[in-house]
Amino acid sequence: MNQLIYDFLHVTESAALASLPWVGTGNKFEADRAATNSMRNLLNKIQMDGVVVIGEGEIDESPMLYIGERVGAGTGLKVDLAVDPIDGTTSTSKGQNDAITVIAAAPKGTLLHAPDMYMEKIATGPKAAGKIDINATIEDNLYAVAKASEKQLNELTVIIQDRERHQKWIEIIRSMGAKTYLFEDGDVIPAISTCIDSLNIDLFVGIGGAPEGVLAAVGIKSLGGDMQARLLPSTEEEYDRCKSMGIEDPNQALRLEQLVGTDNCAFIATGITSNMLLKGIRSDQKKYITHSMVISGLDKNLRCTETVHLINS
Ligand code: FBP
Repeated sequence: MNQLIYDFLHVTESAALASLPWVGTGNKFEADRAATNSMRNLLNKIQMDGVVVIGEGEIDESPMLYIGERVGAGTGLKVDLAVDPIDGTTSTSKGQNDAITVIAAAPKGTLLHAPDMYMEKIATGPKAAGKIDINATIEDNLYAVAKASEKQLNELTVIIQDRERHQKWIEIIRSMGAKTYLFEDGDVIPAISTCIDSLNIDLFVGIGGAPEGVLAAVGIKSLGGDMQARLLPSTEEEYDRCKSMGIEDPNQALRLEQLVGTDNCAFIATGITSNMLLKGIRSDQKKYITHSMVISGLDKNLRCTETVHLINS
């Protein structure tokens, strides 16, 4: 995937810039549409034979980049793509932090094909990789992470989306003496934050979008962390949709290798507004500056890069 990374970077930067006029306008639909159109246009210029396996909804829900959509010029590498033109559409529309545009890629057949539905997720960094278990209680996972990281419970921080459905977990975490880092929107970067030592985040737990789960899994696998997930089909239709995508038991716990079956993967994200790892787009009359991160599964590294985009007068 390494040879396509700079093409994908151009795509996320351009999609972020396309969404910029909609930041703070209250119109998340138009923000998403602008980012999606830009992403589709540029993806179709890349020399690859790509298919969107993780996208926004189904074919009848286009103009979104839908699951199963063919992208790329049709020649070259056969690629599975996970895309989210905006993770954090609400933050974008409210002019708040934590909106990114993001792509993950891997060779055909190596990314989980999953519908756009809720997913339960747990993730940790390299120190506690192999020690978390989505079937265990939050208490047991905290003990396991503390032991693996050689920390006391009161030295742990768990990052979790501030949602009513997570309240029970939040109470348990705090009652055990661990800290919570609550965030409003966009759970891809928070999941990956567990792999960045300097951020001191030990565990990510929560229920969020399945697309965001697979996107985060690519970054986490590349950085030596661990993640497990479980799809949460809420209707018979969603359950059948999982089965039709090849997931034999839609309620099964999914290990990291089932989410991303290769190290030959790449994760690319550009900040629209700022988050714990990326700066949002800055501008003056002559230029825009974008800040992006590129994670290579083959090289096992994370690069941050700023690009100056001159405004033509
Ligand atoms: P959108 O950008 O699609 O709105 O997703 C934002 C997000 O916060 C995701 O990162 C997260 O997985 C999901 O929404 C959580 O869903 P909900 O907002 O319904 O709690």
